[in-house]
Amino acid sequence: MVVSGFEVICLEEVGSTNDIAAEYAAKYPEHKLAIRARRQTAGRGRRGRSWQSLDGNLFFSMLFEFSLRDLGRLIMAASLSLVDVVKAYKPDADVRLKWPNDVLLNGSKISGMLLEKGAGNYMIVGIGVNITQSPQMSDMLYPTTSLAQAGIAATADDFLQKYLGLFAKNIDLAAASLRQRWLENAKNVGAKIKVLQNGKEQRGIFEGIDDDADLILRTDGGVQKILAGDVFYLGDENGGF
Ligand code: BTN
Repeated sequence: MVVSGFEVICLEEVGSTNDIAAEYAAKYPEHKLAIRARRQTAGRGRRGRSWQSLDGNLFFSMLFEFSLRDLGRLIMAASLSLVDVVKAYKPDADVRLKWPNDVLLNGSKISGMLLEKGAGNYMIVGIGVNITQSPQMSDMLYPTTSLAQAGIAATADDFLQKYLGLFAKNIDLAAASLRQRWLENAKNVGAKIKVLQNGKEQRGIFEGIDDDADLILRTDGGVQKILAGDVFYLGDENGGF
């Protein structure tokens, strides 16, 4: 089945859809795929964390050729499209982006994204969405929720179809428009945050992002550009998340 230019491959059980996408990338040039699995036995998250893959939730990886120089546009378009899908189900949903590419619904995480470089010019965009269930583990960094918990009746199939359509539109937008839309939909721009990077902690004001989707942090020592890390909102009622 082809949806918005993506050939959709649906598998029952895999380790990680990102790994399947990487295998395709190594074998075939010029594919544009969305690889979805009903179950992942070794789902991976950012920064070496695992991604719990609960029944009914959505796990997929998009694979397509894309210039690394435009990575910022890709990050912004891919995460904004998740917000757009949630709003397509519920226009007044309290859905917000959290840098670099998490999506929060009512202040808790519903979606995460793992971007990886594939062979040749391929990029792999792996996305997990909590449709019916939210993972609960004692060592979790953030509170989580699901669309179902927020009263949004979606299925993984329908969410994926909507997502691919909206992503195909957003990816053609210029970096400046994507950035503006990203900032309009982001949580706590202008507020105090803490950024953790490999055990190093920095505090400052979240000034926003630039066209490369890097985080701009204003600290006492000046303005810093942050390329990777985990963000915590300080002074937030939600335990700093
Ligand atoms: C994160 O928030 O840490 C990113 C989570 C990304 C999870 C998705 S599920 C589909 C794809 N396959 C994986 O192994 N990871 C991504």
